[in-house]
Amino acid sequence: MNESIRIKGNASVANVSCGFDCIGYAISDPGDIITLIRKNTPGIDITMSGFGSDSISCNPNNNTGGKAVLSLLDALKSNQGFKLHIEKGIPPGSGIGSSSASAAAAVFGANELLGNPFSLNELLIHGMAGEAVASGGFHADNIAPALFGGIILVRSYDPLDILNLPVPGNLFSSAVLPKMTINTMEARKILPEMVPLKNAVEQAGNLSGFTLGLHESDYDLLGRSMVDHFAETHRAKLIPGYEEVRGSALDMGAIGCGISGSGPAVFALSDSLEKAQLIGNAMVKQFKAVGLSSQAYSSPIHTNPPEILG
Ligand code: HSE
Repeated sequence: MNESIRIKGNASVANVSCGFDCIGYAISDPGDIITLIRKNTPGIDITMSGFGSDSISCNPNNNTGGKAVLSLLDALKSNQGFKLHIEKGIPPGSGIGSSSASAAAAVFGANELLGNPFSLNELLIHGMAGEAVASGGFHADNIAPALFGGIILVRSYDPLDILNLPVPGNLFSSAVLPKMTINTMEARKILPEMVPLKNAVEQAGNLSGFTLGLHESDYDLLGRSMVDHFAETHRAKLIPGYEEVRGSALDMGAIGCGISGSGPAVFALSDSLEKAQLIGNAMVKQFKAVGLSSQAYSSPIHTNPPEILG
């Protein structure tokens, strides 16, 4: 068995407008790189480097990667100890699944070093235990795409039922990260406990339309369906210039555009890589107009699990 492993954990866009807490997709850049090394004593020793690493706890119980591995070891009743180094390529609090990327890569790497006692599906619950450290809630729309790749539908949380949605060949993502942070836990607290029945009906219709749009590669239907009646109006207030940024993406021909996860990143879908890059540039320009510098990442949907680098 190998003594160490390096894994790249993928960023992800959650909610995808109409799928609050139940739809997410993976992107390959940016990503977190984790290194796991077996040690002869129990416990997890964590070190961190990269974007925002000084804001993240190295206590394994308060670290998404550490907690995910602890959950896995607990299920195996294993005393195996690890050194875990997390190199953050994804800024924490940016809205593209920073905590999930670390949790997915860490749990995937630990499973590999232990001889794969769990299937990829079985790893999800441990990844979710890690993710909960950051979000304060049990949601899987970042961790599931980070672990499985592709576009994921969380059909049910209890019991957990995770479904792969089809990824049309010419579907591209732009994710723009303004230089500010939003704490997911706080961004969940501002949401109302209840939504009016009318909004729930609209959301159900849009979510169904979105999944059918993916099945049929019907981008008009996808675009019509990418409307959020649960979270966007509440969270848009936290992102300076959000409406203008969204407007700029739609003006450039985006299929749809919305807040990525709990923000502040804004994402858009489009039908070519060239368009995705132009849309990313337009959104960066709009953020600049309100005094925020930002970075755009344009790519196809990433369809694979975390990558083993060595
Ligand atoms: N679905 C979660 C939320 C994603 O919107 O709170 C957080 O990235």
